[in-house]
Amino acid sequence: MKAEPRHVPATVTTERLVLRPFTPGDVDDRYAYQSLPEVARYLYRAPLTREGCAESIAARAGGTAWEADGDVLLLAVCRADEPGVVGEVVLTLSNAAARQAEIGWVVHPRYAGRGYATEAARALVALAFDRLGVHRVFARLDVLNTASVRVCERLGMRREAHLIDNDLDGDRWGSEYVYAVLDHEWVN
Ligand SMILES: CC(C)(COP(=O)(O)OP(=O)(O)OC[C@H]1O[C@@H](n2cnc3c(N)ncnc32)[C@H](O)[C@@H]1OP(=O)(O)O)[C@@H](O)C(=O)NCCC(=O)NCCS
Repeated sequence: MKAEPRHVPATVTTERLVLRPFTPGDVDDRYAYQSLPEVARYLYRAPLTREGCAESIAARAGGTAWEADGDVLLLAVCRADEPGVVGEVVLTLSNAAARQAEIGWVVHPRYAGRGYATEAARALVALAFDRLGVHRVFARLDVLNTASVRVCERLGMRREAHLIDNDLDGDRWGSEYVYAVLDHEWVN
């Protein structure tokens, strides 16, 4: 008999934040930052449309399975003291057999420079190691994305690779860092 998909915990709280699944009522808040060219700049894709934001939220309405390559945990980042969504964090199970997961983060520029991305990412890495059985969490980022580099370093991730011209961002060759941390190295 096929095992039931393993579903991930729904909500995580930190000192200042609540991480939770998106709901249909979050579409406008998500679109407010995902539509910005400055947010998409280093993501190697166009800003999202409102329909794109709505579709990816609707696609996760039934919960998040965490068992197969490509399964994605997408969580809205909310301030505990006010309504609305200020950003998101995402964890992708890139290799289920080897328990490898890729992490990413986005914060609305209006809420940048307050430590929210690092606080949310720290909670997500802890969730990955403590509750999802992940062995290695890694991030891939454009070398020009200095704000994101700083998040990785604040988290204590190790720079493991510097890939040169490994991607094409419009007419610009993109170079990439790979940062990672292992479960037994993680100091929360
Ligand atoms: C990458 C991104 C999430 C970083 O956001 P950020 O606001 O710089 O990061 P944090 O939320 O961790 O905030 C850190 C800053 O807040 C400051 N800060 C202020 N108050 C703070 C507090 N109470 N606690 C912690 N840090 C605080 C820190 O000193 C730090 O400043 P510094 O970067 O100048 O050293 C943001 O630039 C973004 O959304 N970019 C677009 C999407 C993107 O490229 N994502 C990454 C793809 S790999």
